[in-house]
Amino acid sequence: MKINFDSLRNLMMADRSVRRFDENKEIDADVLSKLIELTRYCASGRNAQPLRYMLVTSEADKETLFPLLKWAGYYQDWDGPEKGERPAAYIVQCLDKKYGENCLCDDGLQLEAITLGMTTLGLAGCIIKAFNSVELSKVLNLESRYSPRYVLALGYPAETVVIEDMNDGEDCDYKYYRTADGVHHVPKRPLESLIINSNNSNSK
Ligand SMILES: Cc1cc2nc3c(=O)[nH]c(=O)nc-3n(C[C@H](O)[C@H](O)[C@H](O)COP(=O)(O)O)c2cc1C
Repeated sequence: MKINFDSLRNLMMADRSVRRFDENKEIDADVLSKLIELTRYCASGRNAQPLRYMLVTSEADKETLFPLLKWAGYYQDWDGPEKGERPAAYIVQCLDKKYGENCLCDDGLQLEAITLGMTTLGLAGCIIKAFNSVELSKVLNLESRYSPRYVLALGYPAETVVIEDMNDGEDCDYKYYRTADGVHHVPKRPLESLIINSNNSNSK
């Protein structure tokens, strides 16, 4: 099968973190399963495939989960999406401790597979690490063998996100920011600063 590089690059550029959604639009359960199915094809340390997913779709569970999540740490004056712009669903990624306490980078690889899949379907979301894991396990009645790694909030996007080329000098600012028009801007470092032995590298 031939996969086009530019299509992949465009997909990756479109796959941005979004934190405001059209809450009127639901996501079908089979779509969520389809997204999880993508994770089967990810590389896995020792090929142990220790990650499991809890799908949170009921109104009651979403209401319970929402206050446990910390949204956009750089936005000091914003506590996350208002009612009406909250996620349609959450995917809680858990490590099955039966396979050990460490999943190496399986968690990130699988989250990327899911968010890329979401992007192809017109969905968007946000990977969230800032939550109290003990509290979350309690409210979702997670069996003790499952340790929550990440929460992925998702839905149909209701905000515009744009990539900005970052000035990667001494005083570079990598904080995302929102302009008065509500657009969320995400600075990304230039290629030459990513390659350590690049001639043009000015990375600090
Ligand atoms: C490991 C990881 C943890 C993150 N945790 C949070 C979080 O707790 N809350 C949040 O609002 N965003 C979180 N994010 C989203 C990042 O803020 C976002 O990826 C970053 O601003 C870059 O934007 P982009 O995803 O559009 O490239 C997390 C992302 C990653 C990869």
